[in-house]
Amino acid sequence: MAEREQWATRLGFILAAVGSAVGLGNIWRFSYVAGENGGAAFLLIYILCILLIGLPVILAEFSIGRRGQSDVVGSFTKIAPGKPWALGGIFGVVSAFTILSFYGVIAGWVVYFLYAYVTGIAQGVEGGTYDEFFFGAIGGAVGPVFWQFLFMAIVIFIVFFGVKKGIELSNRIFMPLLAVLIIILAGFALTLDGAGEGLRFMFSPDWSAFGEPGVYAAAIGQAFFTLSLGMGAMITYASYLPKDTKLPSAAGTVVTLDTLFAIVAGIMIFPAVFTFANIDPTDGAGLIFITLPEVFNLMGGAGTFFAIVFFFLVAIAALSSAISLLEVSVAYAMRQFSWNRKKATIVAGVIVTLFGVPSALSYGGPLSDFLIFGMPFLDAVDALTDRYLLALGGMISALFVGWGWNKVDALRETGLTDTTIGAIWIWFIRIVAPLGILWILILNIF
Ligand code: PFF
Repeated sequence: MAEREQWATRLGFILAAVGSAVGLGNIWRFSYVAGENGGAAFLLIYILCILLIGLPVILAEFSIGRRGQSDVVGSFTKIAPGKPWALGGIFGVVSAFTILSFYGVIAGWVVYFLYAYVTGIAQGVEGGTYDEFFFGAIGGAVGPVFWQFLFMAIVIFIVFFGVKKGIELSNRIFMPLLAVLIIILAGFALTLDGAGEGLRFMFSPDWSAFGEPGVYAAAIGQAFFTLSLGMGAMITYASYLPKDTKLPSAAGTVVTLDTLFAIVAGIMIFPAVFTFANIDPTDGAGLIFITLPEVFNLMGGAGTFFAIVFFFLVAIAALSSAISLLEVSVAYAMRQFSWNRKKATIVAGVIVTLFGVPSALSYGGPLSDFLIFGMPFLDAVDALTDRYLLALGGMISALFVGWGWNKVDALRETGLTDTTIGAIWIWFIRIVAPLGILWILILNIF
């Protein structure tokens, strides 16, 4: 068997993990889910979920992957042979696969907007009508599928040749650029008429929202989604690590950067939401695709430049996340069926792309009347994964490290033996995180 690949450096791993975490979740998903769930109250609960559940669980997933040196199912089986924990790994593969199916669709929208700005189509739209432009663009039968396929073809191409080489370099250059760009755009947003109202919406909680169970479910779903947790991406990536990497600081870095990206993205988007009459915070999945074009339109000539750079960098951020999603299934198939990387990539990549087609056609397209529990197909698969599967997957990772694995080994793996942080971490993955997740799952179901 070929030798297992490894990251070239510790920084390479951190960049890849940040690349997986930072993506559409921070910009597209964070803003629309925060918008639908009351803004500031959501933000507060979301940050609590990140700190109390996300941070301990990401460290748990890093340690499972590095210790297991295998894909998400293989790592569980290797550490605890013959035990049912591998079920968590199976959930992981199913979730990563399902998420990628619709992730490719949204990323396809991003690529279309890039194209529309490069060719001048988007600049021709009259200010105040970008909502119509958005629904027109994604509503056809051919367009959304074409852009989804194009994006997925690039993902498959990169994973086909092995994930390590390209990602480290691309993340090193494009992630910082994206950070700078959204800070500039957030600065501009603060000059808009709706800035005060936007900031209030984001930072001044409406206390009644804390009584709504849906807000907690949305917050934990978003926390897992944005940190790429509960579906094995972080386990798979950590399995390409050599033994000597410091896991706790890597976990802290990923969580901090990911959260900052989301907050700055919120500051970039919500002032605009309250500036334009045709936009409402609860507009759903189209929010950034309507809001930002209105803002670019206001910027005049510079708007074209910012729009092109923005959609390009977001497409790259989505790419590094999508790569990690596909890698979960590919690593699994390579071990489980003894396929080589190329075969595993083609088979998994093609199936997941086809499975995304109903999502691509569900927003105004031919399948828009086909509703599941009253939701378009895309929203239904999204809800299924992050309301239930991710939380379950994350809970299994926490329980496994807390109870299934022996505590001494888990602490040794993270380099936290005999430290206060180690003791606190164990307590969190044993009790706080699983109970927190369980409570939210129960709220969700009833
Ligand atoms: N964390 C990514 C984002 O925020 O866009 C999405 C994602 C990537 C989810 C990888 C899950 C995953 F395994």
